[in-house]
Amino acid sequence: MGSWESTRGDAGGTDPIGGSLGSRVAVVTGASRGIGAAIARALGREGAFIVGAARTRADLEVALAGLPAALAVPTDVSDPQAVRTLFEAAAQVRGRVDIVVNAAGVLRRAPVEQTTLADWRESLEVNLTAVFLCSRAAVRQMLGQREAPGGVRGHIVQIVSGAGVHGWEGSSAYAASKFGVMGFTETLREEVRGRGIKVTEILPGMVDTDMTAQPEFSGRAKLAPEDVARAVLAAVTASPAAVLQRVDVRHLAPR
Ligand SMILES: NC(=O)c1ccc[n+]([C@@H]2O[C@H](COP(=O)([O-])OP(=O)(O)OC[C@H]3O[C@@H](n4cnc5c(N)ncnc54)[C@H](OP(=O)(O)O)[C@@H]3O)[C@@H](O)[C@H]2O)c1
Repeated sequence: MGSWESTRGDAGGTDPIGGSLGSRVAVVTGASRGIGAAIARALGREGAFIVGAARTRADLEVALAGLPAALAVPTDVSDPQAVRTLFEAAAQVRGRVDIVVNAAGVLRRAPVEQTTLADWRESLEVNLTAVFLCSRAAVRQMLGQREAPGGVRGHIVQIVSGAGVHGWEGSSAYAASKFGVMGFTETLREEVRGRGIKVTEILPGMVDTDMTAQPEFSGRAKLAPEDVARAVLAAVTASPAAVLQRVDVRHLAPR
């Protein structure tokens, strides 16, 4: 079946402002490392059943191993068939998908004149096309499921970047993909808000993960992946009528 499941059952949970994620199913892409892994842990500890996706099975299994209820589905999120399989597996858990967090991503750094077509294409495939594929699968699933109390059918959260709204020298392919995610997501929100689906974009500053481990970023103040996870938790536990639409998460220190 190409997946691995924690066997400790669904522990349920209570979020800090009174809602429970105990009955929710959450798909988290990029769940094997960094920000996605922190989000999977945060939602999982609040009781959500986590369906984690990334390409590397071993890393995924390690990242999800401590959670009460989780399913690892090795997935290349830029592959349409793999995304279909991921969402079929998620829907089989409890017949619904409540939360989808798109956190998988790649950063290829080079000035424009040295940016290869392969890096450009990979950036758009993983950072933008995959967000479309997973969001489309989420919307199709969520529109077909009953509303939870308060009228919410589901919640899609995109992990974007400050580079989704500002240029970032040396990261033109990355910024192009993230600006694309912003345009897609703001349109998606307007399309689905009247049908019970919340859409949130999280724009973190620099975060301490494998993506930013290279020496050029060594002197920079970095957020912890858990800082981003807390913002996601705040979004998915907001009251039913409230949508955290865009959340900028920045380090307190000046750049
Ligand atoms: N770190 C930062 O400073 C920062 C700031 C703002 C926004 N972000 C965004 O936050 C997200 C997570 O970044 P991160 O820092 O946590 O990066 P990371 O530590 O490099 O982790 C990237 C994750 O994405 C997965 N991934 C990459 N390509 C994939 C593919 N084709 N299919 C499925 N999964 C794939 C990786 O797993 P596999 O390699 O096993 O597939 C891994 O789980 C990204 O969208 C990034 O752009 C990061």
